[in-house]
Amino acid sequence: MRLTRAVTLLALLASLSLYSVADDMPRLDKKDGRFALMVDGKPFLMLGSQINNSSSWASEMPKVWPALEDMHVNTVEAPVYWETMEPEPGKFDFGTVDLLVNGAREHHLHLVLLWFGTWKNGQAHYVPEWVKTNPKKYPREVSSYGKVLDVLSPNSATNLEADKNAFSALMRHVKEIDGAQHTVIMIQVENESGSIGAVRDYSAAAQKQFEGQVPSSLVQTMHTNSGTWSKVFGADADERFAAYSTAHYINEVARAGKAEYPLPMYCNVWITYPVAALENRDHPTPGQEYPSGGPQQGNIAVWKAAAPAIDVLAPDFYSDNVDLFHEIVAAYRRDDNALFIPETGRGANFGSYFFYALGHGAIGFSPFGVDYTGWGGGQKVPEALSENFSLFKPMDREIAQLNFDGKLQTAVEQKGQPRERLHFDGVDAIVSFGFPQRDGVMPPGTSDEHGRAMVAQLGPLEFLVTGFDASVSFALANAPGGTAKNEQIEILRADEGQYADGKWQTSRIWNGDQTDRGLNFRGANKSVIRIRLHTLPLYDESVRGK
Ligand code: DGJ
Repeated sequence: MRLTRAVTLLALLASLSLYSVADDMPRLDKKDGRFALMVDGKPFLMLGSQINNSSSWASEMPKVWPALEDMHVNTVEAPVYWETMEPEPGKFDFGTVDLLVNGAREHHLHLVLLWFGTWKNGQAHYVPEWVKTNPKKYPREVSSYGKVLDVLSPNSATNLEADKNAFSALMRHVKEIDGAQHTVIMIQVENESGSIGAVRDYSAAAQKQFEGQVPSSLVQTMHTNSGTWSKVFGADADERFAAYSTAHYINEVARAGKAEYPLPMYCNVWITYPVAALENRDHPTPGQEYPSGGPQQGNIAVWKAAAPAIDVLAPDFYSDNVDLFHEIVAAYRRDDNALFIPETGRGANFGSYFFYALGHGAIGFSPFGVDYTGWGGGQKVPEALSENFSLFKPMDREIAQLNFDGKLQTAVEQKGQPRERLHFDGVDAIVSFGFPQRDGVMPPGTSDEHGRAMVAQLGPLEFLVTGFDASVSFALANAPGGTAKNEQIEILRADEGQYADGKWQTSRIWNGDQTDRGLNFRGANKSVIRIRLHTLPLYDESVRGK
């Protein structure tokens, strides 16, 4: 009897420990409308870089790792190619996955695997030869005028089964080699899905679906009337049908993969950019300017309804248009969608975009094409982003936690606005961009608006601060009603230092020129400051000589 009880207890303990391993799997958590990517049970800020498309090869990876090191990333995004992983139907070769997982571990990095399956930039370039050469079995999309496209039809059950099968095998393998270690923290399902060449599939099979009723699940979730696609969606019917077909397909792929190993899964987006300013070109055309049916701004609602197995819709961003970046952040940072920027350009402005995204709760940010394979002539890492990442990497966990707790804000310089005021609980941080800052005049700003700062509240009068070409001073927030209290605020002590393994370590104390008129983050000096403030009366009649 006793023995049975001991065995039962042991079994219980074993199951609990198994559970706790499963419980610590990478996952997305949500609190008070904010999201965190949890890695090993704690919020994680993904400082990423994506390698070039043809770099996940043993011949290339030695030229990849040094760039990632120079970039100061904590995560690498790297593709797994369907054509290489399943060279013959049902025969799998996981060499690429093993290469990436082992390499990431050796370099102490996390890994996001990008499934280049049915879709890659709105086309089917990565499907295996046995799919490419058999369009009868694996049907292509057909345009309205009958052109056979190099896009697999999202309306074909055979295509879906083939991709699902391969993706399940991938996730089974990832679980086998990484289920306990969590090197792999997220999966991108497909790449920039949607179709290039047509707004939707006009094949006979797809046409039949298009003429049918909008599925009731979509009608219910979107709170629309029921009816045919044309009746429900009017002029947008073709594009929304493509969005539903693509989202539904990818949802089934993700669902099958999660049944094997439920890592967080996202879809990256080739967003809709404004059309070039030519007369009468006021509207980008789906299938021409961008892949039709992907999770672009206009399709988010359909995707959210049709692809619940996709945790995040994540916009790729390749533009210098800062207003567009703000619009994209506003579109994808939703109560049902964490903000994650999985691909960006490499220009200096992206350094500021990182701060802006962080201040809007981003769980990760990742420039594209970071390696030393020589592609695109790029033998340098993006400078503004690498200086950001080198600053944030030692404190990525602290920053992620502060952001998840709603304690972190950023200020990013905008044209003609050299000063910004951030409101915290009881205290305001005043960020002024550019140097030199002269008494009595507005700060000069920087010549290319690259000033940026981050302020996070650690306690009522304690803050963690960093930035580039910015000064940060503190003032008491006005009392309710706008009347200032009879109080003033002073710096008690400003420690320069860094977090190491979760503990703050001071290297020196800032004072004098470094703290006059604010904490001065000036020039090439990359500093993180932990500042303690205190208050005292502004006027004290009792101490004035009478
Ligand atoms: C976006 C795609 O997602 C990437 O794979 C790559 O093709 C880049 N565009 C190139 O700019």
